Amino acid sequence: MPPARHNGRVQSITGERALVRAALALGAREVAGWSAAERRLAEWATAGRDGCRDGGEDGGDVVDVRDLRGWIRAGHDPLGVAFCGLRPPRERRPAGQTFTPPAVVASMVGWAAQADAPARVIDPGAGSGRFLAAAGRQWPAAALVGVETDPLAALVARAHLAAAGLAERAEVLVADYRTVTLATAAGPTLFIGNPPYVRHHQITPAWKAWFRATAADRGLSASGLAGLHAHFFLATTLHAVPGDTGVLVTAAEWLDVGYGGLIRSLFLGPLGGESLHLLDPSVPVFDDAAATAAIACFRPGTRPATVRLRRVADLARLGDLTEGGQVPVRVLREAHRWGALLAPPEQGSQQGSGAPAGRPEHGGGQRARPEHSGMWAAGGPPGGAGTVRRGSGGGRRGHPVGQVELGELCRVHRGQVTGANRVWIVAADDSRLPGRFLFPAVSRAHELFRAGPVLASVAGLRCCVDLPSELSGLTGAEAGAVERFLAVAQGAGAADTYIARHRTPWWRVGLREPAPILATYMARRPPAFVRNLAGARHVNIAHGLYPRAPLPPAALDGLAAFLCRSVTLAQGRTYAGGLTKFEPGEMERLLVPEPALLAGHAGEGGPAGQRGGPAHAPARQIQPLDHIRDSQSP
Ligand SMILES: C[S@@+](CC[C@H](N)C(=O)[O-])C[C@H]1O[C@@H](n2cnc3c(N)ncnc32)[C@H](O)[C@@H]1O
Repeated sequence: MPPARHNGRVQSITGERALVRAALALGAREVAGWSAAERRLAEWATAGRDGCRDGGEDGGDVVDVRDLRGWIRAGHDPLGVAFCGLRPPRERRPAGQTFTPPAVVASMVGWAAQADAPARVIDPGAGSGRFLAAAGRQWPAAALVGVETDPLAALVARAHLAAAGLAERAEVLVADYRTVTLATAAGPTLFIGNPPYVRHHQITPAWKAWFRATAADRGLSASGLAGLHAHFFLATTLHAVPGDTGVLVTAAEWLDVGYGGLIRSLFLGPLGGESLHLLDPSVPVFDDAAATAAIACFRPGTRPATVRLRRVADLARLGDLTEGGQVPVRVLREAHRWGALLAPPEQGSQQGSGAPAGRPEHGGGQRARPEHSGMWAAGGPPGGAGTVRRGSGGGRRGHPVGQVELGELCRVHRGQVTGANRVWIVAADDSRLPGRFLFPAVSRAHELFRAGPVLASVAGLRCCVDLPSELSGLTGAEAGAVERFLAVAQGAGAADTYIARHRTPWWRVGLREPAPILATYMARRPPAFVRNLAGARHVNIAHGLYPRAPLPPAALDGLAAFLCRSVTLAQGRTYAGGLTKFEPGEMERLLVPEPALLAGHAGEGGPAGQRGGPAHAPARQIQPLDHIRDSQSP
């Protein structure tokens, strides 16, 4: 990471105009592909100004261009950092603007560097140009092409490339990657990047229609629930030709959920998937997005017989993506969920020397055997995908009839981390701040255990303070109260916590909307799943279940009741001391009834706090992990 002085300089880029001026001063216009949208941005930013002078100031912007260029030449991305600082995650999320950390960029470039040098490198969704700059340094003759829809990001990428001395062979196209026309390359192209993660709710019907029609042209079916990253995988099959290579990092959910089926088919088919590297859900890969990441390496046009699968417990161990256990393509083709094949050792029934070849590296533990295993070769994982339980009536592929994974219905989000509960969690009657900034919130697990099946009222809950990012619009009285509160908060160290230093502004806790179902996830007892009829927020002691598509209240009631009576401690990860934890991704893999059947479960569950009590009938257990074990055990 750049040192503090660098950050000090970046902070002196005080707004988007200043960022544009800095980009122009660094030579953004020298990179081919200058668009009308960027020209307009440049005019807006420089109206009445001379622009940044090299090494100087610009009417209040203390932007030292020589300094910025120095940092860029040293391999840093100060403009990208500034971009993220100026646009809070909430504003970047709709376009999927989460930039990739240098360690991941280096690993992905490292993997590609083991093959012949590409003639051209394409970053689909170039952002601030991190991949292209790294690629430009790695391959001195490669043409560098970024495709980016956001003109400000495109300008930043141009400046990054220009300052890195790569302008002559770089081009940034302000265009949509799905339909952009790319020139024919002089040789193999490397597709490398981090496709935007945008959920289907924000994808227009027209693009969904494009997605379905384009997939259908290739004989594949595509789901309207697919996120934008699925569109990018599909587009990559359109742009790529045999001999090209690709390495893309995305949120990992496509490995398991229904809509991911298309990506899985593309990976095993036209993309020529070579390896998959799943970063353990506990590894925070992206600064401002809590997503489990997976890296897919592929060589379009090839037909590998095996794919290397690997789970990585630590970013420092990512390496050059050449490791992993070989798993036959046939096994992957038959498995409807790949996460189980990448499960950590403690989730499966085989550990130690008996683990199948596909058992990937985890933590400081054993490494996936790099060799093809006779056991897998003899017919896939015995008891594997081919023997996954199926209902006699032919239910959803590989699931017991009438069941789907919770993750197909709901996203599970851990509650917001405040950074300093002693400051941001206050009594409900705290009078220091206007009521509109106080949000009743579940802030202790026992509040959910105590609530039983339904949280009907916020009485007894404390509040979380969530102030707006922009305080300048507050009225005199409110402004005074907030100012006094922030002074006290600062005095208590709330501005200096790790979390506060990594969010903008430091006081914005950024609570999520109320989740219709709240769940505890770490205790010595099974999780409580509670219908949140009170509209309470939650902090990071609880998970929130957010339906991907609207579910009627009766279905939500049934879902909570079903989970409450069926989930057992055995399905979580047990830590020393007997605490059992369910990470969001693990919770999303629980099997639940299909939406149409959910309402029928309403009213069946006993109060969460009474599970297993004498009056509680023994639950009809579903055993999601049995299902996983089925597909992995001999
Ligand atoms: C996850 S960011 C990755 C940025 C950069 N490649 C990196 O890894 O640091 C995805 C980028 O794709 C851009 N983007 C979103 N939708 C796009 C589209 N349809 N076509 C091209 N770019 C798009 C976003 O503006 C964002 O900058």
